Amino acid sequence: MLDAMQFWAMVAHESDSGIVLTRQQVDEKSLGPGDVTIKVHYSSANYKDYLATTKGGGVVHAYPIVPGIDLSGEVVESSDASFAPGDLVVAHGYEIGLTHSGGFAEYARLPADWVVKLVGLSPREAAVLGTAGFTAAMSVQALLDHGVSPDAGPVLVTGATGGVGSVSVDILAGLGFEVIASTGKTDSNDLLHKLGAHDVIGRLPEDPGLQARPLNTARWAAAVDSVGGSSLAYVLSAIHYGGTVAASGLTGGTQLPATVMPFILRGVSLLGMESVNLGIERRRELWSALGAQLRPRYLSTLENYAPVTQASQVLRSLKGGSHSGRTIFGVAGEF
Ligand SMILES: NC(=O)c1ccc[n+]([C@@H]2O[C@H](COP(=O)([O-])OP(=O)(O)OC[C@H]3O[C@@H](n4cnc5c(N)ncnc54)[C@H](OP(=O)(O)O)[C@@H]3O)[C@@H](O)[C@H]2O)c1
Repeated sequence: MLDAMQFWAMVAHESDSGIVLTRQQVDEKSLGPGDVTIKVHYSSANYKDYLATTKGGGVVHAYPIVPGIDLSGEVVESSDASFAPGDLVVAHGYEIGLTHSGGFAEYARLPADWVVKLVGLSPREAAVLGTAGFTAAMSVQALLDHGVSPDAGPVLVTGATGGVGSVSVDILAGLGFEVIASTGKTDSNDLLHKLGAHDVIGRLPEDPGLQARPLNTARWAAAVDSVGGSSLAYVLSAIHYGGTVAASGLTGGTQLPATVMPFILRGVSLLGMESVNLGIERRRELWSALGAQLRPRYLSTLENYAPVTQASQVLRSLKGGSHSGRTIFGVAGEF
């Protein structure tokens, strides 16, 4: 169907001055191998997209590439019987937007076992969630599977205005947890309270003196952490006896300057979250849960919108941590 057809894409090229995102026409060859051809309605801004469009970002090894680690839209063609034209779908992770052409183009072609049929969510809502929202759901589900319940005590969310953080606050509060939101943004109290946070605190540790202690006063029953670094080390030192931390990110650094004390004296569990290569069956289950029992209540509050042609500017705002919530990129009709 797309043979000999040209369509629009934002293509990342390497140049002497860095990675440049260029609006250009591409053809069917740029799609890469796959069974399911998707008309892309939306992609979204993720920290990894910022890295993919930044020299030395470390996640893309060969340019040019169409970035966009997640996308949602409508199937237009499928050689796999489990998908038919008109199906509404979402896809993220695996090689999408890294070695395989991603969501910043009018069309994407993907292996069928990378694609999720949407249940209970529109393509726009799925884009607001995107990779970050999916990782939030994975983190919350991991805490639930580990036996954390609302009566266990307060649950901390770090990087609370970010993508993973804000969706986590929304889901946890909707499930009845007392959510403590940690943020570096002094003007975000209203947003976080609207999402259901019980209390808003600064980035951690509030007092650098606490950082060096193997154990601190136990403050939280569990935590969803997308910051990592010394923040995560402090969080581990201040989790209740038997508590659980779901860790997914590194915006605060990759080092973990912690001791074993929280694990061996308080029985704290540190659960690693990896959404990129998660198997498709589990991925489909979690997306179904996102459309039902884990559905965030304030998706429209979290949403910012920009045409994909403005992706460069939006992604730069992720660098300094000044971005809040989730920005979706409109793709269809925006070139
Ligand atoms: N493991 C996985 O499968 C997976 C999946 C998705 C994302 N991730 C990772 O999770 C992290 C968050 O992703 P995202 O899409 O939510 O990014 P994001 O929207 O850019 O949010 C990151 C948030 O982290 C906080 N932050 C930024 N710089 C910080 C610093 N120096 N110290 C402490 N906090 C800082 C900020 O929140 P406040 O201003 O509110 O503090 C910021 O909004 C990234 O590292 C990403 O690569 C991992």
